Amino acid sequence: MRLAINIDHVATLREARGEVEPDPVAAAQICELAGAEGIVCHLREDRRHINDRDLRLLREVVKTKLDLEMAATEEIIRIAIETLPELATLVPERREELTTEGGLDVVAGRKQLKKTIERLNEHEIEVSLFVDPEAAQIEAAAEIGADKIELHTGAYARARSEDDRRMLLDQLRNAARQASELGMGVNAGHGLNYANINGILSIGEIEEVSIGHALIARAVFTGLEQAVRDMLELIRCG
Ligand code: PXP
Repeated sequence: MRLAINIDHVATLREARGEVEPDPVAAAQICELAGAEGIVCHLREDRRHINDRDLRLLREVVKTKLDLEMAATEEIIRIAIETLPELATLVPERREELTTEGGLDVVAGRKQLKKTIERLNEHEIEVSLFVDPEAAQIEAAAEIGADKIELHTGAYARARSEDDRRMLLDQLRNAARQASELGMGVNAGHGLNYANINGILSIGEIEEVSIGHALIARAVFTGLEQAVRDMLELIRCG
């Protein structure tokens, strides 16, 4: 299973102070040096974290694979076509949400989504649809020509009891099998962390996971000790 890292939260921290650091472009390079097999970023309509400059530079520096998460709006489709990421993951987007909340309604939006897939495919951008693990959504994704789906793992990640966890993992397993039988690639993401990744590893059809929050959150703590030491050295030796 491949690991693609979502670096949005590095930009979230930068935007919290309106500063130039931390730079998500530098973060992407470190992720690749450490072995990440893809870099994911979400250019939101409100540019709350990743901005146009980041995307332009990410396209220049990312050597593995750039996955642009995006809403299927005219402005962002145009930017995707200019940027040419290897993969575009279409997600629903609402301004008031903290993060992407649910999967796409492919059944209801099939006409517009099909057109978007065709436009992006024309420019050799593969298209993945972020969907809940529901049979009707997956069937519709295949019908309109999606190259891949990304299964929304949020409900599984939030499961409180072992019974719920098992049931939600089975849903993901069935959805992954269905998508694979329909000829689509299968990615998964949202809420995955160091404690729940194990279940996902048991689903052979999932080719790639997209992980952001848990990984950046851990980096704060695994990097904090060194950051303190570096400052103390300056203070004591300065
Ligand atoms: N996949 C999609 C479609 C997302 O919107 C997000 C959140 O940006 C992720 C994966 C990563 O989720 P998390 O930050 O919880 O790891």
